[in-house]
Amino acid sequence: MIEAKVLITRRLPEDVLNYAYNNIKDIYVYEGDLPPSKKELLELIKDRDAVLCLLNDRIDKEVIDRAKKLKVISNYAVGYDNIDIEYAKRKGIVVTNTPGVLTEATAELAIALILSASRRIVEADKYTRDGKFKSWHPLLFLGMGISGKTCGIIGLGRIGTAVAKRLESFECRLIYYSRKRNPSIEKKLNIEYKDLEELLKESDIISIHVPLTEETFHLLNRDRLKLLNKNSIIVNTSRGAVIDEKALADLLEIGHIGYAGLDVYENEPEITKKLLKLNNVILTPHIGSATYETRVKMGIIAVDNIIAVLNDNEPKYRVV
Ligand code: DGY
Repeated sequence: MIEAKVLITRRLPEDVLNYAYNNIKDIYVYEGDLPPSKKELLELIKDRDAVLCLLNDRIDKEVIDRAKKLKVISNYAVGYDNIDIEYAKRKGIVVTNTPGVLTEATAELAIALILSASRRIVEADKYTRDGKFKSWHPLLFLGMGISGKTCGIIGLGRIGTAVAKRLESFECRLIYYSRKRNPSIEKKLNIEYKDLEELLKESDIISIHVPLTEETFHLLNRDRLKLLNKNSIIVNTSRGAVIDEKALADLLEIGHIGYAGLDVYENEPEITKKLLKLNNVILTPHIGSATYETRVKMGIIAVDNIIAVLNDNEPKYRVV
């Protein structure tokens, strides 16, 4: 049992909390469903040795400065754009994340959004519930088949690769853009490297799998989004700000882009109002990793990362 004070900023699956309670003496779990306010966070973190935080807890300079005893910031996510990692590093605080265990869940959601968009499933569900299904008709809810279509993956890391693998079984032609080329995956999956502009022009379906950094902020800006072809489908399960959300809404509205499946938003939880009114968009509330198994695995890793640092060991998933 570790003699340390740990803050957990939200309720987590029971198996994770039990694991934490069995290993760490003093744990405070913030019970709210919404993130603690800045004021609450500053108060809660001030005497803690470790914090297990979420992607919507902003761990900035002010929070880090208040946490005089903090040794580790353990993010319950693979992405860590919510944390000022450079400042944490300067202060000698370890930052960790939970990669690997959410690959399948996130890839499955990306595929679900691609299929739901291509076959207009959400629109068709609403139509049926609204009692509008009166007769089979050759023109009812025509969508786009994905077999034989060109699928462009932006970011061929773990999740991008998992999506590509799944799309292979739908007999899609696969292309990708990534900061680094990956010749062994190119060969294994028969996926061809393209520069970003080429990928946008050639793809019928685009799925985004890059982390949010200064370089990827608005990677898909208005000019690049205009390169998409008219019937294309764009799916984002990474971070909202990789796309200029307002530009995307405008282009979907005028039919310049066919359909979008979005799980993440530029200013979560706010969503560009126009998107809410469009039929050619599917919106989900950042549930890429939301399977019970995955959320437990993420939690166990996040707790293990804390235990390792508090025991002066190297954590398994260190960011800085
Ligand atoms: C992550 O881990 O970064 C996901 O967005 C949340 O599941």
